[in-house]
Amino acid sequence: MSFLSATLSRVKPSPSIAISTLAAELKAQGRDVIGLSAGEPDFDTPQNIKDAAVAAIAAGKTKYTAPDGIPELKQAICAKMKRDHGLDYTPKQVSVGTGGKQTLYNALMATLNPGDEVIIPAPYWVSYPDMVLLAGGTPVSVEASLESDFKLTPEQLEAAITPKTKWFIFNSPSNPSGAGYNRAELKALTDVLMRHPHVWVMTDDMYEHLVFDGFEFCTPAEVEPGLYERTLTCNGVSKAYAMTGWRIGYAAGPEHLIAAMRKVQSQSTSNPCSISQWAAVEALNGPQDFIAENNVAFKRRRDLVVAALNDIDGITCPTPEGAFYVYPSIAGLIGKTTPKGTVISDDEAFATALLEEQDVAVVFGAAFGLSPNFRISYATSDEALVEACRRIKSFCDTLS
Ligand SMILES: Cc1ncc(COP(=O)(O)O)c(C=O)c1O
Repeated sequence: MSFLSATLSRVKPSPSIAISTLAAELKAQGRDVIGLSAGEPDFDTPQNIKDAAVAAIAAGKTKYTAPDGIPELKQAICAKMKRDHGLDYTPKQVSVGTGGKQTLYNALMATLNPGDEVIIPAPYWVSYPDMVLLAGGTPVSVEASLESDFKLTPEQLEAAITPKTKWFIFNSPSNPSGAGYNRAELKALTDVLMRHPHVWVMTDDMYEHLVFDGFEFCTPAEVEPGLYERTLTCNGVSKAYAMTGWRIGYAAGPEHLIAAMRKVQSQSTSNPCSISQWAAVEALNGPQDFIAENNVAFKRRRDLVVAALNDIDGITCPTPEGAFYVYPSIAGLIGKTTPKGTVISDDEAFATALLEEQDVAVVFGAAFGLSPNFRISYATSDEALVEACRRIKSFCDTLS
């Protein structure tokens, strides 16, 4: 009899961890590794948010809270949903979790039965398929190509829906591609969903605020009010507010789903950290202007990286609408050989050789379900990005 659960055996270890582990080992050996694999902003959490946390500690707000959030934070989330999307939610329709990841996980745990299918456009955030598997469902990956700027077409969505489809997971702007769907592109998808009333939408709006060039972010329930009753809108403070370590995410949706998610959470982690919740109240209710300031830096870095990568023979890099990632294709490099004799057979071989031979850590596309590509997180200094792109070019130029 196996000691480990059968469920766990269905889940893959994270492929991106392998490259990060190798990068850490090389650094420990004294090598000058440039890490472009971390999915978090390099900016510090704004001072007013930190102050709110300190004040919460001083005021003794250090005890258990309601499992899915303090009323003040739920109220701030309702106000945010109204302010940014014109959507009406009451606190009973809001769930706060330990990071965006936990709210997504709670929803899947609360709803999936064996055989239930979840449509996930690829390239996808690495955790979606494995969270679906852990919850007992079946991930259905649908590849959005480079030619469509990594966006799923309505025809692809229509073709992927079966009577067993329970959820469609939607993520815009996307990790790993940065692709953002404009209103018309999203409406084309929601039109498909309107024809299939048994399919629910789990939208992951984590990168909502990180958009450039005047891109207008929109979320499914706002584009198609007819989907309000079967949409779970997930978001969090991790990325826009530079609060990855604070672990606060949230979701808004139908009350019966939120109640089911609360049940899962109350029997797993109980409530998210009380102090972080007070910090998140300040994040959502306080000044928002630093987001635009950070975006100036993110856009400059995006432009720098996209231009440098497109200057390399064999690499094609579209310009994404948002997030802090680019997802270049290396189709033109497959089959080539490095000076040390490594054959670039796929994107994993590319990323491994790039790290070993040029000390640049990126995550290979297979981890995100679409190859041959790699992901760069440009949430790091301009100097590091310039140097990393120089090394990537010199690596590619020596391939034969
Ligand atoms: C698309 C997406 N959703 C959710 C998350 C999870 O965010 P959190 O750190 O709040 O759990 C991430 C983090 O990388 C992400 O990229």
